[in-house]
Amino acid sequence: MGVEGVEVVVVVREFDSKKDVVGVEDVERRCEVGPSGKLSLFTDLLCDPICRVRHSPAFIMLVAEMGEEKEIVGMIRGCIKTVTCGKKFTRNAKTNAETFKPVPVYTKLAYILGLRVSPSHRRMGIGLKLVRRMEEWFRENGAEYSYMATDNDNLASVKLFTDKCGYVKFRTPSILVNPVFAHRVRLSDRVTVIQLDPSDAEVLYRRRFSTTEFFPRDIDSVLNNKLSLGTFLAVPRGTYSVQNFPGSDRFLDHPPESWAVLSVWNSKDVFTLEIRGASRVKRALAKTTRIVDRAFPWLQLPSVPELFRPFGLHFLYGLGGEGPRAVNLVKALCGYAHNLAKACGCGVVATEVSSSEPLRLGIPHWKKLSCAEDLWCIKKLGEDYCDGSVGDWTKSPPGWSIFVDPREV
Ligand SMILES: CC(C)(COP(=O)(O)OP(=O)(O)OC[C@H]1O[C@@H](n2cnc3c(N)ncnc32)[C@H](O)[C@@H]1OP(=O)(O)O)[C@@H](O)C(=O)NCCC(=O)NCCS
Repeated sequence: MGVEGVEVVVVVREFDSKKDVVGVEDVERRCEVGPSGKLSLFTDLLCDPICRVRHSPAFIMLVAEMGEEKEIVGMIRGCIKTVTCGKKFTRNAKTNAETFKPVPVYTKLAYILGLRVSPSHRRMGIGLKLVRRMEEWFRENGAEYSYMATDNDNLASVKLFTDKCGYVKFRTPSILVNPVFAHRVRLSDRVTVIQLDPSDAEVLYRRRFSTTEFFPRDIDSVLNNKLSLGTFLAVPRGTYSVQNFPGSDRFLDHPPESWAVLSVWNSKDVFTLEIRGASRVKRALAKTTRIVDRAFPWLQLPSVPELFRPFGLHFLYGLGGEGPRAVNLVKALCGYAHNLAKACGCGVVATEVSSSEPLRLGIPHWKKLSCAEDLWCIKKLGEDYCDGSVGDWTKSPPGWSIFVDPREV
């Protein structure tokens, strides 16, 4: 019901890029006005409202349209892909002995993101209508689960999904963000970094990470996407080198005692961010740190990057490793990724890892820019659905790690 009991008709339909861009951008802008006197983060989707889902195997954006003027008052994006939800053990065909190896159990998972309702049209049931229509599309396309991520403090969003739509709180990974300094980070000379081509990266990820929760079965299309800037392997100096790297299969048959890997995704070409609301004093201080850092790069000063005008980011994904020195090797890889982000003109480098990720100690980040608990809520779409050896995924305990898909950042 609308004002004074007049029935307001809200139509939810698919986004049309030919006529809806202006209306959708207008809602985005109105949603992003933060509380006055406080810092707020603005996102610019670079004139492509569908950019945050378009790299997934199946995706859609819906808009809510209202009244005779057909004003756009809300929107929602969603995508579907196949991911690992658990593992089971099968007999190892390679060895004759009675050994068992873990293999992934996959499920078709839908993801909801970018739900927005214009501030002047909230609490009218529009958000709920958008979620319900999106879930219909998910079911029509065979998705078995749906999940969404939100800030733990976002009461409206948490309540909408948990109270009204049947989602349950599932995982609380951390978003770790590090500034890109004006200096290049010095890299340890005890570490060798080897860039893997996408096919070697695929072999390594499938052999070592395919049983990690949320691992995308189409990892090859992630690695071959033009936004994926590369996969980097760190090993102790003197073990393997760029010249004698034998390919991932042979490497994993004879790995060094410790190694680590990560991949870099160029989110800078998808969207830009901007912090607004900072006082003049804060901006001047930040600028001063950069000037000093640029003038004396050998001091390796932790300067504040230019965050008060639009800046881009690189996202680190597929972070993993093994062995007693893995944390140090991850640290070296993060330094390497920092320098790559600096060369590309990014403001920050970000990643998202499980709250229990053993390698997170090697990931440099600033607490102020990071989010300790990103809340992921999940729902089973079909009541009778159950994956054999995993059971109901929504009730399963978390693993040590998760694989965060860079296509949905
Ligand atoms: C979250 C958001 C989409 C909700 O849209 P909406 O159209 O106002 O939501 P609805 O009217 O459909 O509300 C449905 C239910 O959600 C919950 N809810 C919505 N807003 C709420 C609020 N401000 N406080 C507490 N509960 C709230 C209530 O349970 C509500 O049911 P009720 O009105 O019967 O109590 C909207 O507040 C928004 O655009 N926020 C900014 C962007 C954002 O945070 N998006 C979510 C990211 S995933």
